[in-house]
Parts: sequence; structure tokens; C-alpha cells
Amino acid sequence: MPEAALTFIFEDSRSARCSARPGETALAAARRAGIALDADCMEGACGTCKAQACSGAFDLGDPLEDALNNSERASGLTLLCQTVPQGDCVFELPYDSTRAMKRGPTPVRPATLVAIAEVARDVVRIEVLAEGPHVDYLPGQYANVQVADGRIVRSYSMATRSVQGAPWVFYIRLLAGGAMSDWLRGATPGARVSIEGPFGHFYLRDPQHPIVMVAGGTGLAPMLAMLDHLAATQGQAQNDAQDQTQTAPQPPANALSGRRGQQVLLLVGAGSEDELFGATELKRLQSHGVALEWRHAVVHPGPTWQEASGHVTTLLREDDLDRSSDYYLCGPPAMIEAARDWLSAHAVPSARIHAERFIASGVGAR
Ligand code: FES
Repeated sequence: MPEAALTFIFEDSRSARCSARPGETALAAARRAGIALDADCMEGACGTCKAQACSGAFDLGDPLEDALNNSERASGLTLLCQTVPQGDCVFELPYDSTRAMKRGPTPVRPATLVAIAEVARDVVRIEVLAEGPHVDYLPGQYANVQVADGRIVRSYSMATRSVQGAPWVFYIRLLAGGAMSDWLRGATPGARVSIEGPFGHFYLRDPQHPIVMVAGGTGLAPMLAMLDHLAATQGQAQNDAQDQTQTAPQPPANALSGRRGQQVLLLVGAGSEDELFGATELKRLQSHGVALEWRHAVVHPGPTWQEASGHVTTLLREDDLDRSSDYYLCGPPAMIEAARDWLSAHAVPSARIHAERFIASGVGAR
């Protein structure tokens, strides 16, 4: 069995990563990597190493009821000193990274702007290549981008999956009078920037259910990263399945839809049609194994607009409702609240809703 990639996300949104060897516990792997997670007995008896398991398969022996009771276990809590990953896993810790990260805060890495292009009205796509060793991130997370010698810092979600050696891709909305926006309007490839990250609790969970994504404006960016990840993993799964058909009987015809990939409904909103972007990317992802359907809504439709009018939440329909789906929301606060209200009114469990809100300026801007 290959090593498993472990991600630990702390309350302050910072994260740490390491690899677990076959048979190694998550806590031991973290300690070997210099990540000092809370622990005491190391025997599954005290409960000090309790963490929320968010993604991935693992073995959890038979911890004492006092350390982890049945309802905690049912809610996804685990004891990291007893958790032996069986694949890549994500855990959330109920404390800040400063308690665990002996190496201090996430380093700021020098980087170069290698591409910049306007992809829609007031939206640019940039590619930033960071120096130093590869830093992995989860699809959906964000980073702080620093320009002008660190005097301007903004947070943006990565728009592709993490690939060693590849630039980090961001979609950024240009604002009138915004410091970062003004800098970007004059930026050309070769400009020096810095990257700090990754950060954030908004990331793709184990895709075991249909997925509904609701994106407002550049809130599409983290969805693209998630879809990119799904396309990559689905493509691998399809290759494996094709290899197996060399020796195994052919599946019945109706199994084809199951092999077609993860079902995703993507709802995208914008102020007007010329602010929409990403269609080429979505078609590429769709052709790479994700059973993706997307719909648009614009607040100010032009005379030739043929899709929905209004805010993106008007695209939420009872016909599409599946309470077992995972819902991912990213956009301005009002959009998040409206989508949450709709989902809650339709009895979608809050555990199935993952949201990232962004504001229009300062750190946290998109
Ligand atoms: Fe005591 Fe894990 S350290 S239960």
C-alpha cells in the first residue's frame, strides 16, 4: 500500500500536511513530520488527540468508551493516536495551528506572475509560479497573494487542483479603486509576487454523493479546482476500469452511467452575461469524466439572454433537490445566506452544506 497523504486543518484555517507510512498512525506520521498535535496517553484512553475525520478511510481499533463514545464516533470524531489511514485523509483539529506548528506560521514564498489575461468583464485569470519545494493544497482552499513588496495582500481561491511544478491559478474580480485591482491592471508576466498558504476549511469532501455547487461571481474558482480534482481522479478510475475490462466480463449497459463519473450540478450567478467566465474550462472538465451540468443566472440580462434571470439562488429548485447531496456554496455573504436559508427550509442537513463567503476588499477579497 502506498503512503497516505494526510492533511490537518486547524481552527485558524491554517493546515499542515504529511505522509503516513503503511500501518502508521496519523499521530505518529504527524510527529515524524514535526507537527506537534495534542496527545497524551497514546493508547486510545484519554481522548486528548480527538479530531474530526472529514475525508478518507482509516482503521480505528477499539478505543475506550471514555476516550471516544459511540455518538462521537458516529459523528465522525476519531482518536489520531489510534487512527491508521487506509488512504489520503483530512482531519480537523479543535485548536489553532500555533499550538502544533513548531515551524511557526505558514511561510511566505516568493513567486512570479507567469500569465495574466482578462477572461470576462472585470475578471482576470492569473497564473503564479511559486519558488521552493512543492506545497500541496486541497481543492477549494485559498492562498494570500502579496504584491507591491507585500504592501497589498488579498486572499483568492485556487482554481485548479494542486499539481507539482504547475503554477497556482486564480480568478480575480477587478474593483474600481481597489489597490490589488489597480496593481493587476498594470501587471505583466514576470512581475514579482509572493504566496502564503494554503488556508481554509472549504474543500472537497469525499465525493460519495451527488454534488451541488452554487457559485456567485469569482466564487466559481474553488469549484473549478474541485471539478479539476474530480476529473483527474475520475479519469484514473476510468482507466483502471478499462484495464479491468481486458480480463473481466463487460458490465451491463446501464452501468455506463455509473462509470461516467461523479454527478455535479453547478449553479453560477453573475451581474450580467459579460461577467461570466469558465465555459471552456467547464467543457474540458466535462469531457474528462465528470458528469457535470451547469446553469447560469444573471441579475441584469441582455436582450439575447436565454437562461435564468435573477440571483443564482433562483436556480435552486425542488426538482433537483437530493437531501443526500453535498452542497458547496461560494460567493458574497448575501448569496451564502440566501442559499443556506433555502437549503435549510428544504430540510437539507447542515452537515451537508459547506460554504465560503468572500468580501469585496481587504484580506478575504476575491
Ligand atoms: Fe490519549 Fe490518543 S493520546 S487517546
